[in-house]
Amino acid sequence: MGKGVSGFSKLSKTEKIDWILKNYLSGSKEAENTIKQYWHNDVDLQRLHDEFIENTISNFYLPLGVAPNFLINGRTYAVPMAVEESSVVAAASKSAKYWQSRGGIKCEVISTQKNGQVHFKFTGAQEELFKFFKEVKPTLFSETKDLTRSMESRGGGIKEIELLDKTELIPNYYQLNVSFETRDAMGANFINSCLERIASVWEQAFHSSDSFQKQNDELEIIMSILSNYTPNCVVRASVSCDVSDLSYKNLEGKEFAKKFVEAVEIARVEPYRAVTHNKGIMNGIDAVVIATGNDFRAVEAGIHAYASRNGKYSSLSKASLEDNIFNFSLEIPLAIGTVGGLTNIHPLVKVCLKILQDPTAEELMQIVAATGLIQNFAAVRTLITTGIQQGHMRMHLLNILNRYGASENEKSILLEHFKSNPVNNSSVITEIERLRN
Ligand code: MEV
Repeated sequence: MGKGVSGFSKLSKTEKIDWILKNYLSGSKEAENTIKQYWHNDVDLQRLHDEFIENTISNFYLPLGVAPNFLINGRTYAVPMAVEESSVVAAASKSAKYWQSRGGIKCEVISTQKNGQVHFKFTGAQEELFKFFKEVKPTLFSETKDLTRSMESRGGGIKEIELLDKTELIPNYYQLNVSFETRDAMGANFINSCLERIASVWEQAFHSSDSFQKQNDELEIIMSILSNYTPNCVVRASVSCDVSDLSYKNLEGKEFAKKFVEAVEIARVEPYRAVTHNKGIMNGIDAVVIATGNDFRAVEAGIHAYASRNGKYSSLSKASLEDNIFNFSLEIPLAIGTVGGLTNIHPLVKVCLKILQDPTAEELMQIVAATGLIQNFAAVRTLITTGIQQGHMRMHLLNILNRYGASENEKSILLEHFKSNPVNNSSVITEIERLRN
């Protein structure tokens, strides 16, 4: 049975670890060593990581890999990817190279607007509210000037504020829907600060209005928050080539293209497949989003909502075959930044952005979308030809060997052995045991 605690956040790091060890880890020395083994020797670097969150006891590592040969709009990138799943970086690298020699990946930012809402309840005459909003709207802009000035100097700021009637969803429910341009920043703090200011100015204006007071009308702000659904901040990535360039394994080009298009069509109409299909896309997207210090939960939530925008969860990518030309594309909403947040303070994130040649937010949107598309191509290509287990288990082999504590010598013998033998959990265990006996 676990134990509760009060004042945990006030304990020192060592006291927190001692408490966890005593109450949840039976005082295990091994667990203590593991927690401390992941501390960084450089005290300042460790403090930086400690201060990213609260109640930090250690660091949790993800491997950082690089997938080279991404030719995006004529420029070559090596894409940093932070991900724990074997095969992902290998698949991205292989497919990026494949498309490098077929014209590369074309990417285009379609829109860059983010949005947030002040959610509120109002009881009273709706026409009066809309009339009042028109009068107050300029004040909502002017009263946020101190917050928006610096963003405006970079070409961003608040683009529009509109009053939306949402009473069909919930009685008396309205929104101030605010659109933002945040340039190279993801902009969450900027957006939320503006929304909270707008909410407070709106509320004050309402309470100072004689006519609403006379009618005993009421306005209650429920909350003010950005939306991670950003259907007006969208990027598209695509690849295309003649089918004669597409032959793969035992499939001739046209046959390959047809089967590929069918596989994507299944993901378009069948949510069970669409979720896994899109998960393959997210393998690439999340890995770059994490490596560049962006908020992958926000990206995930927004992208999956977009995948359901037509009322049914569906594939994010599309494939077609017309006049012997194979087209494959991906369209996703992506609210990410290259300044602010972790991007300026996490030393490895800074290096990853340097590897990407210090991209603007729009360039990063394109790189992320390209990685998602290429990852998706790799997965679907494997699924319709060899199946994923053959390659996946080969990549996973080292993990299995590590799990069974294989020595370096055992590893090298078994890696050699499995070059020409099928890899699965039981075949690996059998071989380890055979070797040890
Ligand atoms: C595994 O991480 C991802 C795949 O399942 C994606 C897909 O099925 O398209 C291979």
